[in-house]
Amino acid sequence: MGKAIVRNLALAVCALAIAHPAVAAPLRTSATAKGLLLGVAVDMTPFRNEPIYSETLRREYNLLVAENAFKFDALHTARNTYNFTDADALVAFAQANGMAIRGHTLVWHNQLPGWLTGGTFTRDEVIAILRDHIMTVVGRYRGKIAAWDVVNEAIDDATGQPRTSSFWAQRIGPDYITMAFQFARQADPAAILYYNDFEAEGSGAKSDGVFNLVRGLVNQGVPIGGVGWQMHKINPFRISAANHSNAQRLAGIGLEISITEMDIRIQLPSDAQELQQQALGYGDAVTFCLAEPNCAAVVTWGFTDKFSWVPGVFNGFGDALVFDASYQPKPAYTAMQSVLEAGQGGTCTTAPAAVANLTATAISSSQINVTWNAVTPPPNCSVTYTFHRSTTANFMPSASTLIASGLTTTSNLNGNLAAGTTYHFVVFAVDAAGSSPIARTSAPTRGGGGGTCHVGYTIVNSWPGGFQVALSIQNTGTAAFNGWTLTWSFPGAQTIASLWNGTATQNGPGVTVVNMPYNASIAAGASYNDVGFTANGPAGTPTGFAINGVPCN
Ligand code: G3I
Repeated sequence: MGKAIVRNLALAVCALAIAHPAVAAPLRTSATAKGLLLGVAVDMTPFRNEPIYSETLRREYNLLVAENAFKFDALHTARNTYNFTDADALVAFAQANGMAIRGHTLVWHNQLPGWLTGGTFTRDEVIAILRDHIMTVVGRYRGKIAAWDVVNEAIDDATGQPRTSSFWAQRIGPDYITMAFQFARQADPAAILYYNDFEAEGSGAKSDGVFNLVRGLVNQGVPIGGVGWQMHKINPFRISAANHSNAQRLAGIGLEISITEMDIRIQLPSDAQELQQQALGYGDAVTFCLAEPNCAAVVTWGFTDKFSWVPGVFNGFGDALVFDASYQPKPAYTAMQSVLEAGQGGTCTTAPAAVANLTATAISSSQINVTWNAVTPPPNCSVTYTFHRSTTANFMPSASTLIASGLTTTSNLNGNLAAGTTYHFVVFAVDAAGSSPIARTSAPTRGGGGGTCHVGYTIVNSWPGGFQVALSIQNTGTAAFNGWTLTWSFPGAQTIASLWNGTATQNGPGVTVVNMPYNASIAAGASYNDVGFTANGPAGTPTGFAINGVPCN
């Protein structure tokens, strides 16, 4: 779907840029220059009634999809009656403005007309209706629609198995999916035929279910060409390594992907910090799609917060799009613009610098979080990160486990690690010109070494020059503590205090209540949030502990 279509649109974009000299760099201009389809779902009411709505579409986007106008109930109003008024208007607008079009959607369990769902049709009649619908709709726009969402949301949210309760599954059986793709191919030999769903983009039962479904279709020779990731998200949202690996496994079976319905909803009222967080998610999506060769398009489900499905469905949430309700660009818009304009007009010739501030922090006896500072991309470059881990110190990346590549985030949470074991990490930055020098860090998991437990604690008593803290320490491990040290931190000059040493008081699991006097002036009732407990158990032994009932490892 992507590059050839975008090339064909480039001429129209040049004309539009000249026609709107006051707008410095609309998203459309740089998206087209980068070969990216950047799209938006269109609500037909403001499309017809608010000139600024259609002006913004034409200026900022090179791809349109109808939010509702192409759905079954909108088009197919009685068994032998179709209403193409809105769909035709949208297609005409897109063509007049040199924009590509996605068709959404042919087969879905929602937005079906009453004449269909309430009708007493035999299986063969329902198949005939499905065929007639697809042949009529896809045939009408043959050659004009770049990609069709042929089947929408056919996988069950919870189980990852095919949804059996939908109208189509109930009335035709599971074959309706194959039939729909075959009818669509008969009606338009060139359109890219998509399966579209939510929660299809990362890891887990749902995305595995989608992958299994589309792999089965590919293996049977069904004419599927792509998978749409809806991506209706909650702030804060960032692209993760799972999104990259999922894109790559779909590429591995010959399928392209598109982000088809993105929005990032915020609990209202939103504040400036939340809008900045939201901007990171939108910037990530564009960076991701530019980085993954099989990603064709980024489509948002609307563009102005004035018209969005979110507030009507998610009570108390909104502000999910990239223009505000007054059509002013939000930080999310600027983030997309920055990503699209990076490297505009040149090639990347410089490898990135090494990452700085590479830090490993034990979270538990099985988890270590690794963070680093983002590397500033050299001119014309975009940077991703590669991440290796080993239990061997000073290992060479080429001889170790590759944990992730193509990361656009600056952290990686490592799980399923062994307790009380030191892990070594290597991270380097990569761009089109090459790799940075490697950066190294190490940390032990907790257990056999201890760690910091971020629990709240309160000063229960104080006197001039002293105070008392009450903490309940629970040994939840299987080994006795062989001596231990308790530390806590508090703000101000006395940042970290190392303070109380004890000898073994438990043999195996048990509870000790510790009342600690300490020589410092802290007001009674003050609350802080950082207690450290080092249990000197044998290395590698899971010496679990909890403080005030909060498990620390
Ligand atoms: O068409 C009727 C109209 O005749 C009536 O007067 C009006 C009164 O409420 O309702 C109109 O129908 C509404 C329709 O949008 C068209 O505006 C429905 O009530 C309303 O429920 C429907 O919501 C749409 C929803 O799909 C339906 O499931 C949203 O606008 C649309 O954004 C949403 O889009 C879906 C994608 O297609 C698939 N992925 C999820 C995404 C969000 O739910």
